[in-house]
Amino acid sequence: MEIKAPTAIPQQEIDRQFGYIERIAAYSRDAELRTGQKPLAYIQTFGCQQNEADSERIAGMLHDMGYGKAESPEQADVLIYNTCAVREHAESRALGNIGALSHLKKQRPDITIGLCGCMVQQEHMPDKIRKSYPQVNLLFGTHALWRLPELLYRRLSGEKRVFDISGDVRGTIAEGLPVLRGQGPKAWLSIMYGCNNFCTYCIVPYVRGRERSRCPKDIEKEFRTLIAQGYKDITLLGQNVNSYGKDLDIQIDFSDLLARLNRIEGDFLIRFMTSHPKDASHKLLDTMATCDKVAKQLHLPFQSGSDEILKRMNRGYTAEKYRSLIAYAREKMPGITLSSDIIVGFPGETEADFQQTLALVQDVGFDALFTFLFSRRSGTPAASYEDTASKEEKQNRFERLLKAQDICVLPRQQAYVGRCLRVLIEGESKDTDYPFLARTEGGLLICCAGEGLEPGIFAGVNVEKATLRCLFARVER
Ligand code: SAH
Ligand code: SF4
Ligand code: F3S
Repeated sequence: MEIKAPTAIPQQEIDRQFGYIERIAAYSRDAELRTGQKPLAYIQTFGCQQNEADSERIAGMLHDMGYGKAESPEQADVLIYNTCAVREHAESRALGNIGALSHLKKQRPDITIGLCGCMVQQEHMPDKIRKSYPQVNLLFGTHALWRLPELLYRRLSGEKRVFDISGDVRGTIAEGLPVLRGQGPKAWLSIMYGCNNFCTYCIVPYVRGRERSRCPKDIEKEFRTLIAQGYKDITLLGQNVNSYGKDLDIQIDFSDLLARLNRIEGDFLIRFMTSHPKDASHKLLDTMATCDKVAKQLHLPFQSGSDEILKRMNRGYTAEKYRSLIAYAREKMPGITLSSDIIVGFPGETEADFQQTLALVQDVGFDALFTFLFSRRSGTPAASYEDTASKEEKQNRFERLLKAQDICVLPRQQAYVGRCLRVLIEGESKDTDYPFLARTEGGLLICCAGEGLEPGIFAGVNVEKATLRCLFARVER
């Protein structure tokens, strides 16, 4: 028998939220009778896939509360901005968007403007919003997301401002809330929340709380529902999926979970992100290699190629360990697609440190890189580390890195020309000659042409040409 996760929100609390969902749905029906139109909700999401997945839960709750989807803020009765705090840029974009709404709010004071997600979970944020953004009516942190129905109900009952960033930093898990996913064959599935790693630059552990894993039976149930609904490409989400299960009372790790999901019948792909190199094990790579439905794709962020910088980032591995993991992955899965995150300009990064990052990029040969300039996040240890390189130097390193990556990627992409690949059609492309947008099993973008293609089907295609960012292919005859 499986035991409930210790962090699970009690069922009666969840049921209480369903009570609010029903009450708001009754309001919405009344409004529709009066005006002939459903009330509309607009959601804008910043940040990573975790936030995308959270927004799908917000969308699910709003849908069940009787809201239709607004295509623009101007149409909406409820506007929700799900924010990110990982870099300063993410914050300023969200705040810029909120700032721009003051005009709309003056015209239509009855609308509800809501702010949630990682940015608002920072200690100093509620005060800042309270003082400087009077147009915001609703503010809820990452730990309060499941209470949206109750908070919105209070707002609709006349409260001007409802703020809630309460919740234990150990975090909780709320099961059974509605989810409304986007169109297409791809779906996100959160398997765990939070992070315990405290990389010295990173705000995520502070705003998302401690690691907590969902019970495997809840994950499997949701996974089976997705397959039954026709989803074909499911990405398991967690900040470090390799720690999955460590907090559960039963013996299970991430590899076991992958193997368990792989046994579900059907034609689909399982992806996952993110893996932390300090915890990515040979067992994981062996499991990936033997599970036919697990995509041969690994996003393994290394952040820096310099051991000195890695140490100061508190990453817990060396460049050598990283290289040997990649070598093992390639030995077990030749042709595996590899990607990584890199931070350029971490405090104290010297030209020699940066050269080691460049060398790692050139030696490994990644299919994709996500590169970021270091951004100081208040409250993290690295916020007070001394900077040595100038802004220009950092920018120059950043550009050299992008160039080096492009030089590596083009031949990798071109090597696919003439090969047959299995792809999943996702939707339409902008290319009239290759009108379907698809992904290879390794997650590469590919535009396809040919008879019988439609979103959601797997097809065998011949690659005809390649650019830096995209492959082009035709259905095999
Ligand atoms: N949990 C994931 C990453 C989450 S954040 C992991 O550990 O891989 C996504 C990426 O943002 C990180 O991999 C890192 O490259 C980048 N990042 C995080 N904090 C940052 C900061 N303060 N400045 C610049 N980039 C940062
Ligand atoms: Fe941030 Fe590190 Fe946790 Fe990733 S593993 S979310 S980079 S603290
Ligand atoms: Fe993701 Fe940004 Fe939060 S990267 S976890 S949305 S801080």
